[in-house]
Amino acid sequence: MEVAAVVPAAGSGERLGAGRPKALVEVAGVAMVTRAVDGLLGSGVVDEVIVVAPPEHLEEMAKAVPTAGRVVPGGHDRVASVALGLAEVPGADVVLVHDAARCLCPAGVVSAVVAAVRAGHAAVVPAIPVADTVRRAVDGGRVELVDRTGLLAVQTPQGFDVDVLRRAHAAAGDHRATDDAGLVEAIGGEVVTVPGDPRAFKITTPLDLAMAEALVRAL
Ligand code: CTP
Ligand code: MG
Repeated sequence: MEVAAVVPAAGSGERLGAGRPKALVEVAGVAMVTRAVDGLLGSGVVDEVIVVAPPEHLEEMAKAVPTAGRVVPGGHDRVASVALGLAEVPGADVVLVHDAARCLCPAGVVSAVVAAVRAGHAAVVPAIPVADTVRRAVDGGRVELVDRTGLLAVQTPQGFDVDVLRRAHAAAGDHRATDDAGLVEAIGGEVVTVPGDPRAFKITTPLDLAMAEALVRAL
């Protein structure tokens, strides 16, 4: 079984505000995209990695990920970027989709996701329990309590049977899910979870970057 990973890294990183694509920003001296690709390959369960990069930064990105199979230009949003990466893995049986921004994800999460897909689950997401009390904003500044029971925060890498993921993307149309499992659910597919890890958090803001740096130094 051929396991390929697509790493969407084509975002601009507006919220991080580093003035360059977020995936190229370094965490303790190593670019996020480099850490993400090395983490996937280092898990020992991924055969090839395709990085989806901002079209105007292809060369810089390729230099940052010498171990990636290919670096291809991305699209106008994450769904489009993943679809472009998916087109580059014709021989894969299992596809992982992993955000460059979750660059400190431990190898154990990667192997657990792959194992669950190999065991026959067509869509697998790592998830961790939501620690905060959650409320929904309603109107006029009012909020309502949301029952936290069973609420999970979903991470990447998400793993898929390649045919299911291709069908989900083909059917996506204007449906802009924030993750690939959402697209599978939209075509009636079942999504299962494996335990995620707090270290797989997404670096979005300067605070997240500072926390990632602290984490690398502490490990
Ligand atoms: N991504 C992508 N193509 C896009 C937009 C996002 O490949 N057109 C990728 C990002 O590079 C990132 C992942 O999707 O690895 C998750 O997106 P996010 O954390 O939102 O990153 P950015 O879109 O770069 O950040 P922001 O929303 O703050 O601009
Ligand atoms: Mg974004």
